[in-house]
Amino acid sequence: MAGTALERFTERLAGELEAQRREGRYYTPNIISGTQGPRITMDGRECVNLCANNYLGFAQDPAIIAAARAALDRYGFGLGAGRVVCSMEIHQELERRLAAWKRRAAVLVCQTGYDTNLAAIATLAAEGDVIISDAANHASIVDGSRLSRAERRIFPHADMDGLETVLRETQSAPARFIITDGVFSMDGDIAPLPAIVALAERYGALVYVDDAHGDGVLGERGTGIVEHFGLHGRVAIEMGTLSKALGGVGGFVATEQTVRDYLYQRSRTFMFSTGHLPPAIAAGLIAALDLLQAQPERPRRLWENAAFFRDGLRRLGFDTGVSATPIIPVLVGEAERAMALGRALRAAGVYVQAFAYPVVPRGAARVRCIVSAAHTQADLEEALAAFAGAGKTLGML
Ligand SMILES: Cc1ncc(COP(=O)(O)O)c(C=O)c1O
Repeated sequence: MAGTALERFTERLAGELEAQRREGRYYTPNIISGTQGPRITMDGRECVNLCANNYLGFAQDPAIIAAARAALDRYGFGLGAGRVVCSMEIHQELERRLAAWKRRAAVLVCQTGYDTNLAAIATLAAEGDVIISDAANHASIVDGSRLSRAERRIFPHADMDGLETVLRETQSAPARFIITDGVFSMDGDIAPLPAIVALAERYGALVYVDDAHGDGVLGERGTGIVEHFGLHGRVAIEMGTLSKALGGVGGFVATEQTVRDYLYQRSRTFMFSTGHLPPAIAAGLIAALDLLQAQPERPRRLWENAAFFRDGLRRLGFDTGVSATPIIPVLVGEAERAMALGRALRAAGVYVQAFAYPVVPRGAARVRCIVSAAHTQADLEEALAAFAGAGKTLGML
């Protein structure tokens, strides 16, 4: 055999990366200098940023930064131990505040949204149980399900007949978890949660909703999909992230006290990691909740911006699919066309991200735009003008 084991192995990896590059889905680093925001500086050039999940502009909000800075002085830089060994009072306060915000009995904060899905799904769904998952669910739900010993069943995206078929076929399982994204991150559509809850109640199943893109976005008070549909008390487990609308990092489960206690005692990703939210982040997140409550106009502005931008794209002739939220894809089909549109927009001063298989199905490549409450009308008009120019140059309009 030629070469060392490491040489042969790196050759294999290089081959796979080369194939990815040929298929036009190789990600190059996109480095911003300065802060995250509606406009960013990338490669030394200012551009309109349509890539961040910074829905409310909290990632660069001065009140939040000030709260984080004060906590840095008071509590120091790191936690230095796992939460089970020693939690700080600021983490307890964050959990209490999130529980009150979500109108739930208890909250467990985990390291990231991704970790939260691993922690909750793998720990709660036991051998013999069934996880019933929407086909378009986020990778972290897929991975949490893979880590669990429960049986896994998939229903076609948002297809209630498909869901009911699985519910009918799995009636002998001790517990069944219907798991769905609240807002789907690639298409920007909202899960049919009232229908899912009705089926769950009819068949005695539990509903688990991933509200990563609903927190701070959906509902009159911005508390997510359960508020949006008026389903308080009917969803067993609400998972959320602290890294999108709330502007920091972390994830959480909002649920019944016993479920939270069980996760605290049993979740391996929670227990066996020293990595947890630094106290300054926890304090910044509490300030973000204060701000959201004090400024209900932020989510309203977000929705106005989303409607303005989506309508503008549609008027130009772009296909924005089933988007009903600030996540607005522009569907173009083949991977290379999506990458070309992304490059043309970037050259015109608008930063969007192109996605292709395996992140989205083959033939459904797109550039995805995410609008923020922090965008001005001028930012969005500039972006629409760039879309018009790039679309014409590339023969898409
Ligand atoms: C639907 C959904 N769930 C979970 C996550 C993971 O959350 P986090 O980014 O906080 O790890 C994401 C992130 O993109 C997401 O879109």
